[in-house]
This record gives sequence, structure tokens and C-alpha cells, in this order.
Amino acid sequence: MLIGIPKEIKSAERRIAMPPAGVEMLVKNGHKVLVEIDGGLGSGFSNDEYIKAGAEIASTAKAVWDQAEMIIKVKEPLPSEYGLIQPDQVLFTFFHFASSKELTNAILETGCVAVAYETVTDAKGRLPLLEPMSEVAGRLAVQEGAKYLEAPMGGRGVLLGGVPGVLPGEVVILGGGTVGINAAKMAAGLGAHVTILDININRLRYLDDVMPANVDNLFSNDSNIREALRKADLVVGAVLIPGAKAPHLVKREMLSLMKPRSMIVDVAIDQGGCVQTISEHDPTTHAEPTFIVEDVMHYAVANMPGAVPLTSTLALTNATIPYALELANKGYLQAAIDDPGLMEGINMVNKKITCDGVSDAFDMPYTPVEEALGL
Ligand SMILES: NC(=O)c1ccc[n+]([C@@H]2O[C@H](COP(=O)([O-])OP(=O)(O)OC[C@H]3O[C@@H](n4cnc5c(N)ncnc54)[C@H](O)[C@@H]3O)[C@@H](O)[C@H]2O)c1
Repeated sequence: MLIGIPKEIKSAERRIAMPPAGVEMLVKNGHKVLVEIDGGLGSGFSNDEYIKAGAEIASTAKAVWDQAEMIIKVKEPLPSEYGLIQPDQVLFTFFHFASSKELTNAILETGCVAVAYETVTDAKGRLPLLEPMSEVAGRLAVQEGAKYLEAPMGGRGVLLGGVPGVLPGEVVILGGGTVGINAAKMAAGLGAHVTILDININRLRYLDDVMPANVDNLFSNDSNIREALRKADLVVGAVLIPGAKAPHLVKREMLSLMKPRSMIVDVAIDQGGCVQTISEHDPTTHAEPTFIVEDVMHYAVANMPGAVPLTSTLALTNATIPYALELANKGYLQAAIDDPGLMEGINMVNKKITCDGVSDAFDMPYTPVEEALGL
């Protein structure tokens, strides 16, 4: 199969969908790989390293999109890429359709096969391709939060770890999944006091067992969220209902409960945001990550792992390469038939939406994937 790896063009996005080591594996399996020129530079990989791994270098994005049977990317296609997508071309990338009707309509119109990293599941029902980026984003959320809590950055001037004789900062984490536990590890490691809220009682039991003494947990409901917001210096939004739009756990009127210049990092922004004032705002970029509403600083970058591309590219591709090999070796149809978890990754095929979370988000027709594939 001819596999294309275009350069990412989202603002300040420096990851690439395949490192040279992954190219080498695809080539050894008999595939041809076309990498857009300089696509790997942001992640520390030169064109020469790709050539040594067996790739061909394409001088334009168009050359990659025109020829490839399967495109592997990191982020969703942007408007300037919509016209490059071929009908029946397999697109294997993060889409997060539920956060954008424009993207949903544009990709549906192309007739491509949209295999979304974020809805591929493993045998235990987990999300193996979202997980590594959630690990990065969770850890980064606290690093960014700590930075923007500094007074010169506009924050309230709190050191999360405190010092002897001064209490540490308070970190509240909404959602105790992969993002949540990674944020909690970082915040707890810095010495902050951490509270994790989740609706899954078994997850709360697990967190209670594994987290250090400076991490408490609380069942997530309106009343407990209000109480937690009152004391928070940093709030991390980390909820997920797979494939669907994030619920608004922090409503606009709740901001008045928060301390002046406290900080919210809404990692769930890629699914629309779990903070109302964030989901009503456009996502922010690494170039201008924050904005202030009611004297609370908001951070809403939808591609947080793009800030640490050397770590993120390797973490992401460690997880995606086995799936890329299956898709390339067997073709997407057989690969999905053989792996029901990969089948769940197909969000669109034959101009039909096959992910119920996406059709629910926009009240658009849903077709079961087997029916859309004529199985
Ligand atoms: N912005 C970025 O760059 C970036 C990067 C990676 C992941 N994400 C996003 O972060 C979010 C979290 O991802 P994850 O991998 O941790 O998901 P996850 O499924 O591991 O965890 C989500 C948790 O949210 C909990 N939850 C659901 N409803 C809740 C509620 N009402 N209150 C409290 N908790 C609730 C679930 O029980 C679960 O434990 C997703 O939207 C994901 O797409 C964003």
C-alpha cells in the first residue's frame, strides 16, 4: 500500500504521525511511504533519517494526498486540506468530530474512510490511541497551570508546592481517567493538595488505593463541584464521554465562586470543553493559550501534546504503529473485521456517519458501521 505522511499544519503543531522507526517497519512489510518534506523537523527527525528508513520525500502536501491510499496524520484535517482528500482514501488520525459540525460535514462530503484514533478501543474497552496523548496532556496540564499561576503570567501568584510554613496550592481535577490520574501524579509530586472528582465509583476506589496522601477524591455532582471550585487555585477539566460532546460541569455562574486569577486548564476542549465559558469560546493556540473571563484565567489548547513534540510523537506512534501495520497489511475492511476495536474507530465511511456520539452531537443520521460497509 502507498502510505502518506503529510506535515502537520495546525498552529504550533510539531508532531508527525510516523517516526523513521515506524517508516522502516512499514517498508519492511512491503509498503511504500511518502513523507512530506521537513514534516519531521519539529519532532527532531531529518529528511535524511526518513530516506535512510526507506521513505520517499514528497516536496508538497498535495503530492502526498494525491498519491496515498492511506494518510496517517496527527490532527484533524484543516479547511485548506479538505480539498486534498480523495474519495475512499483511508484517513487515520485524531478527528474529534463531536467538537465541530463544520469538520463533520466537510469530511463526510469527501467520501473518505475516517478512522479516528480517539474511538479505537482495545479488548478491555479502553482507548489505546487516546491514552498516550492523555498521559502527556494530563502531565502538561499541571505544568502549564503552574506556569500561568505565576504573577508575571497574569496568575494569582501561587506556588503549587507551597513552602514550609505556607500551605500548598489546591488543584481540583474533574474526571479521574487517564488525563486526571496523570495530572494528579504531577500535582501531587509538586506537593500541591489535589482533589479528583469522578462519577465512576470503582474508579474512585482505585484512585483511593494508588494515589499518595495529598490526593483526595470526591463523587462528581454539582454540589461537590461548587465546593471544590471555592478552594481551587488550579482546575483541570479531564472528563470524557467517548465520541460525544463533553458535559458542562463548570457553568458560567460558578466562576464567581472561584478565587481571583485562579486558573482553569480544560483538557477536554478537544471534545468541546467541560467548562461552559471555554466551550463558548474558540479553542486557543500555543501562541496565545489563555484568556480571562470573570477574573478566572482559562486555558483551552486543543492540541496540548504539540507543545512537547519530542515526547509526544514517540508516545503516540508507539501506540498507533501496530494499527497502521494492520490497516496497511490487510486493508481497512479486513483489519476492522478482524479487530472489533478498530471497527469502532471508523467514524465515517461511504458518506455515512457510523459513530453514534458524532451523529448525536449534531442530530445527524447514524448508520451502524456494519450496514455502512455492507457486511
Ligand atoms: N486538549 C488536548 O490536547 C487533549 C489531549 C489528550 C486528551 N484530551 C481529552 O481529555 C479528555 C479526557 O481524556 P481521558 O483519556 O482522561 O478520558 P478517560 O475516559 O480516561 O477519563 C474520563 C473520565 O471522566 C469521567 N467522567 C465522565 N463524566 C464525568 C462527570 N460528569 N464528572 C466527573 N467525571 C466524569 C469518567 O468516569 C472517566 O473516569 C478527553 O476529552 C480527551 O479527548 C485532550
